[in-house]
Amino acid sequence: MIESAVRQPRSATDRGALGSTGLLVSGVCIGTSPLASMPELYGYAVDRELAVQTVETVFDSGLRFLDTSNGYGDGGDGASERRIGEAIARRGGLPDGFVLASKADPDPVSGRFDGERVLRSFEESLERLGLESLPLFYLHDPERISFSEATGPGGAVEAMIALRESGRVGSIGVAGGPIDVMLNYVRTGLFDAVLTHNRYTLLDQSALPLLQEARSRGMGVVNAAPYAGGILAKGPEAHRLYMYGAAPDETLARSARLQRLCERYGVPLPAVALQFSLRQSLIDSTVVGVSDPRRVDDLIANSERAIPPELWAEIHAVDSESVS
Ligand SMILES: NC(=O)c1ccc[n+]([C@@H]2O[C@H](COP(=O)([O-])OP(=O)(O)OC[C@H]3O[C@@H](n4cnc5c(N)ncnc54)[C@H](OP(=O)(O)O)[C@@H]3O)[C@@H](O)[C@H]2O)c1
Repeated sequence: MIESAVRQPRSATDRGALGSTGLLVSGVCIGTSPLASMPELYGYAVDRELAVQTVETVFDSGLRFLDTSNGYGDGGDGASERRIGEAIARRGGLPDGFVLASKADPDPVSGRFDGERVLRSFEESLERLGLESLPLFYLHDPERISFSEATGPGGAVEAMIALRESGRVGSIGVAGGPIDVMLNYVRTGLFDAVLTHNRYTLLDQSALPLLQEARSRGMGVVNAAPYAGGILAKGPEAHRLYMYGAAPDETLARSARLQRLCERYGVPLPAVALQFSLRQSLIDSTVVGVSDPRRVDDLIANSERAIPPELWAEIHAVDSESVS
């Protein structure tokens, strides 16, 4: 297991700088893809009212960072943004100092993902959320188009920069999966923040070079999916999916080993999986997906639970492999 500079884990509610964006964010950001109800990715459906109440509970907690996307929802129908928009409307606006980030997605029908589509995607997001601007807006999963297409004239990146210049977006980020693709975007020097997912967890640390590169440039660094989509929270018996697909036997076995180790020390697996990210000094905020109001208090408690140093030492001895 590879782990670079570690610090005392930040509490979920501690606020710190998101790189040099000027934004202050909590150590944990709430991810909202599960509450959009996407049973094919998470294995269960989520009721609309429960989702809206989850967002309201987040607003009432010390957490100050929420992550969504134009495309979160069954068939990319924007259910996540609509449900968040409903919570914002019930509260008469976002709480003070709250950072809400969304992402540009391709047209769900044509797949078009050029500059015009990025601008349209942004307008759709604002309409669903009932807002007029966003402090942080990401280009989402740019691995869906070629780098030259995205960075060429009329491409998605040009539109992202235009949105920042217009002042309707405070900072722009790039959010996606494959590390080589993400490094290409980070090295353009055009983005203020990067979001990586599923690649800095107890099961996979292949994002480390990306975290280091982004940090050396003063970018905001966000690590999403510390539970690898749920297996490191619910455990491999209850949740047999890894990164939104059937978990390979080897992953189920490694997760079970990690769970047994945590049990031996009397610490819940999700607390260890969460703090693995919270104690990484290269990461400004960790995005955790939840779809139930009761998760919010659990999450804060898990971020603050004492974890014996001996457990970390043993965790480091558990084999780890990278995924591509
Ligand atoms: N390309 C991208 O930009 C990208 C990719 C992936 C993720 N993300 C963002 O990052 C967020 C996090 O990723 P993720 O949601 O896919 O994965 P995750 O955070 O690794 O895991 C989410 C899962 O963990 C479960 N969970 C959370 N706390 C739990 C607890 N205490 N006990 C039991 N189960 C618990 C949730 O269950 P419940 O639903 O039952 O609460 C959900 O099934 C996403 O929601 C999204 O906002 C972005």
